[in-house]
Amino acid sequence: MNILAVESSCDETAVAIVRDGREVLCDCIASQVELHRIYGGVVPEIASRKHIEAIYGLADQALARTGLTRDDIDAVAVTYAPGLIGAVLVGVNFAKAAALALNKPLIPVHHIRGHIGANYIAYPELKPPFLCLVVSGGHTMIVEVTDYTKMRILGTTLDDAAGECFDKVARVLDMPYPGGAALDKAAQTGDDTKYVLPRSKPGANPYDMSFSGLKTAALNLIHHAEQVGEELDIPSLCASFSAAVSDTLIPRVVRAIEETGLKNIAVAGGVAANSRIRRDILAAAEKMGATVYMPPLSLCGDNAAMIGAQAYYEFLAGNVAGMELNAYATKSILGETI
Ligand code: KG4
Ligand code: ZN
Repeated sequence: MNILAVESSCDETAVAIVRDGREVLCDCIASQVELHRIYGGVVPEIASRKHIEAIYGLADQALARTGLTRDDIDAVAVTYAPGLIGAVLVGVNFAKAAALALNKPLIPVHHIRGHIGANYIAYPELKPPFLCLVVSGGHTMIVEVTDYTKMRILGTTLDDAAGECFDKVARVLDMPYPGGAALDKAAQTGDDTKYVLPRSKPGANPYDMSFSGLKTAALNLIHHAEQVGEELDIPSLCASFSAAVSDTLIPRVVRAIEETGLKNIAVAGGVAANSRIRRDILAAAEKMGATVYMPPLSLCGDNAAMIGAQAYYEFLAGNVAGMELNAYATKSILGETI
């Protein structure tokens, strides 16, 4: 089954063609990152406009690159939530028009389920059930993927997402947007014990976590240094910050492995590219005899291939939509409107 998949929830316009959920025939991306960089973050109106400009050409490009014709497309999939509403709407309307014109099923895909689906592309042998650490710009949670379309949220951040914190701290350090990758790079030569930063303690639900205290502590440290004219050791600050994020995530993953008995653990989302988190989760899993699945860096950030992968399983579960499909800025990974 060839699925034409569309992703436009933030600042990447992407169209891919994915066969049977696992084989990526092409993955075309038009990134807007450079455009938003001068503003230090995504400007929603600009993002929507650029998605409209790029999406038709990308779909043509996807067909041309694979040598497929419109008749070879069996379904159209699209990220319908969550994201910047104007941006998501562009993809949803394009996908609706394409499905209508081709007379093919329309498959709505939750963006975060798509991030999890990136692992199906990278690891053909990966099958539910497994645990997934979701770490993206807008979401941080530990999910039990009981089946391809059935999930249980074990815990989630109670405030900021990990990616948001990376970006905020990087921005205050004058690193280019989106700052997570730049902060990670700077951390490589730093001493992760030099600055003492807080780790969120387990609360009523031991899987829940918090990042706002860590973010505030890092920002206060930077502002205080500025005020007193103290020169900061930036690589060490970045390394200490990355360690604090990782130390918040990893013990909860370890607990989830222990309590569920699931020995397969996937990582998903843009922050899954973080070298410290990748290293720490591998080390923790090795001690427990667990196996870690992490998408290659090219599939960690937003792309349409991951939407096409997850879409296949959504289709098999009967999750198709009609022309009434709407876009949503927020929606739980379980499908509830929030
Ligand atoms: O999953 P994603 O593309 O967007 C959402 O779905 O929200 O994730 C983007 C996030 C940004 O916050 C970006 O700074 C972060 O992923 N990111 C990283 C790294 N690469 C990207 N954060 C930490 N370390 C990285 N290497
Ligand atoms: Zn994303």
